[in-house]
Order: sequence, then structure tokens, then C-alpha cells
Amino acid sequence: MPILSPDVIEFISRSPEQTRRVGARLGMLLDGGDVIALEGNLGTGKTVLAQGLGIGWGATTSLISPTFVIIRRHTRNQDNNFFYHIDLYRIASVKEAQDLGLEELLGDPRSVCVVEWAERATDLFPEEALWIALRVLDEQRRSLTFRAKGDHHRAILEKLRKELAGHP
Ligand SMILES: Nc1ncnc2c1ncn2[C@@H]1O[C@H](COP(=O)(O)OP(=O)(O)O)[C@@H](O)[C@H]1O
Ligand SMILES: [Mg+2]
Repeated sequence: MPILSPDVIEFISRSPEQTRRVGARLGMLLDGGDVIALEGNLGTGKTVLAQGLGIGWGATTSLISPTFVIIRRHTRNQDNNFFYHIDLYRIASVKEAQDLGLEELLGDPRSVCVVEWAERATDLFPEEALWIALRVLDEQRRSLTFRAKGDHHRAILEKLRKELAGHP
């Protein structure tokens, strides 16, 4: 796993299961206020990764592709926090995301937000977030580039980096 800088790591996933596992590892590290912005084309594995994030966080309902419903809210047993799974694929403009209340959700200190097609509303994202860009390498392989913005998300990424280095 090449370390590009302390703020960026690139991970190559060899299967959907591996992407889901990486998501679950990261999901365990997430708490209220954390923002995960997923960018990449259709079929790159954003929903697969988000499913893992939900599993790791402890969502009691499984994450499905929210393409028709733009926002889905999940809960877990240990507290009253929320996990929002948001898919901006169908928004026609940044204004539409604004009207959906995206900024309020992203700023909610009790909620984890995971956003697919985050690049469609970049301007609405807080300064502090973890951006993950997904790319198709071939049928089974995906490149995941994690880019932390801000100290808090940098610390999360550093924990993830250590875990991935420990159990590749
Ligand atoms: N390494 C991999 N990681 C994630 N998905 C993969 C991988 N290899 C193949 N796939 C397949 O790619 C597709 C990704 O779908 P999905 O997560 O819905 O993409 P997106 O949400 O980015 O449109 C799934 O059909 C999945 O089985
Ligand atoms: Mg998707």
C-alpha cells in the first residue's frame, strides 16, 4: 500500500468482499459528525463500501443502494445516533441538494454521513471530511484513494492505515 502523504492513502481492493471489509474497518472508527464523501463513477463500488461502513458502525438495517430514495437513515443499538446514507446521483443541481438539507445533515454532530456522488455538491461539504475516490481497474479490482481533510479525519485515516497495514 503506497503512502502518498500523511493525508492520502491508496488501497487496491481485489473483490467486493474486500471493499466491504475495508468499509467495515473504517465504519468501526466513525462517530457523530464524521463525513465520508465518496466519489467515482457508476459501478466503482461506492455502495459496496457504504454497506461495509454501515456494518462497522453497527447499523441495525442493511444498506441498500439509495438511488431512488436520496437519503436513508440508519440507527444502531448502543446510542441514539444516526447514520445517513445519501446518494446524489439523481440530483439535477447543487441547489437541489441544498433544498434537501444536505448541509444541515453534514453539520449534525450526532450523525455520521456517507455520501455517494459527493462530487456533485462539493461546495456544500464542510472543510473537514474524509474523501474517498473510487476507480475501476478491472472487473474485480478497484482503486480507493482516501484523502483526509482536517485533523479529526486525518486521525481516523491514520487509524485505518495502521489497521490495513496490520491485516492486509
Ligand atoms: N473490488 C471490488 N469492490 C467493489 N465492487 C466490486 C469489486 N469488484 C467488482 N465489484 C462489483 O462492482 C459493482 C459495484 O457496485 P456499486 O457498489 O453499486 O457501485 P456504485 O455504488 O459505485 O455505483 C458491484 O456489482 C460489485 O460486485
Ligand atoms: Mg451506488
